[in-house]
Amino acid sequence: MKNVIAVLSFLLLTSLTNYGALAEERLITEGGQTTATLRNGPIDEEASPPKMSKVENNDIKRKRAYPMQPPTIPHKIDGYQVDLKVNTCMSCHSRKRTAESQAPMVSVTHYMDREGNFLADVSPRRYFCEQCHVTQAATKPLIGNDFIDIDQLINNDSPKSH
Ligand code: HEC
Ligand code: HEC
Repeated sequence: MKNVIAVLSFLLLTSLTNYGALAEERLITEGGQTTATLRNGPIDEEASPPKMSKVENNDIKRKRAYPMQPPTIPHKIDGYQVDLKVNTCMSCHSRKRTAESQAPMVSVTHYMDREGNFLADVSPRRYFCEQCHVTQAATKPLIGNDFIDIDQLINNDSPKSH
């Protein structure tokens, strides 16, 4: 068991070190050891939390990075209750309410259970919207990102570009 833990922590450490290559501005060196971190200070000091960024509320949808990406939310969601009793999101986004709200309907996948059967109402596995959908904010990425969109990838790979 001890060996398993040792191997797992080694893997975790190496993956953290790899991450470090991207997050250079947040490398900290303590006791001769350099660690990649998203904390903004030494581990034994209370760090001041970064400012909360302003949520965009401009109704402008962002491009999705890949076909099955949960779209980000182009409006504020302050005070929209989602619990056992109510789901405020569905009061605009459900099939029944879209004529009134002019909100895009949740896609059919949200009405499917895990066996692929269509249900009359939103599936329990899609009930807690904010599990997958996040609001939009104009923030600086915490770490670098070299994600390439599939269209660009195909373009780069096409014989024309050689
Ligand atoms: C008062 C009605 C209303 C409520 C409540 C509401 N929305 Fe929306 N939502 C809209 C409208 C209208 C749009 C279309 C874009 C716009 O006008 O902001 C939208 C857009 C979206 C989109 C973007 C869809 C896409 O195709 O890009 C997502 C995701 C979304 N809402 C999620 C949510 C979630 C999650 C909640 C609950 C926390 C919620 N909405 C609550 C009206 C609503
Ligand atoms: C488990 C993750 C997950 C949860 C929970 C979830 N969604 Fe989604 N949602 C997605 C994904 C992935 C997509 C894009 C692919 C698709 O349509 O299935 C999407 C698409 C959407 C769209 C765009 C539909 C379209 O046709 O363009 C809306 C609007 C939306 N979701 C709203 C909601 C609301 C409201 C809730 C809560 C009732 C919710 N989602 C819960 C993952 C989720």
